[in-house]
Amino acid sequence: MSALNPYRPGLFISLEGIDGAGKSTQLQAVVDVLRAADREVVLTREPGGTEIGEKIRDLLLHQTMRPATEALLMFAARQEHVLQVIEPALLNGVDVVCDRFTAATLAYQGGGKGIPTERLDALARWVHPGLQPDVIVLIDVPPEVAAQRLAQTRQRDRFEQESVDFFVRVRANYLQQAAAAPGRWLVVDGTQTPDSVQKIITEHLSNTLQVVEAK
Ligand SMILES: Nc1ncnc2c1ncn2[C@@H]1O[C@H](COP(=O)(O)OP(=O)(O)OP(=O)(O)O)[C@@H](O)[C@H]1O
Ligand SMILES: [Mg+2]
Repeated sequence: MSALNPYRPGLFISLEGIDGAGKSTQLQAVVDVLRAADREVVLTREPGGTEIGEKIRDLLLHQTMRPATEALLMFAARQEHVLQVIEPALLNGVDVVCDRFTAATLAYQGGGKGIPTERLDALARWVHPGLQPDVIVLIDVPPEVAAQRLAQTRQRDRFEQESVDFFVRVRANYLQQAAAAPGRWLVVDGTQTPDSVQKIITEHLSNTLQVVEAK
């Protein structure tokens, strides 16, 4: 049984941060730490992770819509993801590593776009009552740094085209969430080299595993 969340056995870990922070870069390292400890792992992402969820992701990333529509679609995709992928895995003792979860909706649609937190919290209670990640890794970078990284790579989706001000609000919301639950969040300075970021994350998760597996 998970020491952090005693009603289910798998560990639930999510990676968070603004676009270009380095989440995808670090995902495999997270999976590797868990597998090295002989744990079974599912790697997934939000929005997405199911057939319906990936279709909703495509809408969210490419279609103009109101912030409320965006928030509702995020939770619609999340409902399928939780029921089809996340909960079955956790209940079977499989760890789940997820590129973004509900914290991202609070940060982007709440902090970034001004949807009241109470509404998003109500949706979260409806869609995944009692479920939240055991560990949330926030890779924190200033929006200017993230924008510079993205400018050097691929085409930008709808979110990646938002203003620096928008990402300032998203980042601030993430940091507030982390400050409110420091036991659950690991905040890593994402301006360091990928190797340094990886070292901090893997050490933290190794410690978490020691606690979990000692029980
Ligand atoms: N620590 C780092 N230092 C410098 N560049 C980095 C670092 N981490 C990632 N990058 C580079 O920054 C870019 C964005 O990284 P990545 O795709 O991992 O970000 P992301 O958080 O997953 O973004 P998105 O939210 O858009 O999916 C990539 O080109 C990646 O190689
Ligand atoms: Mg990514």
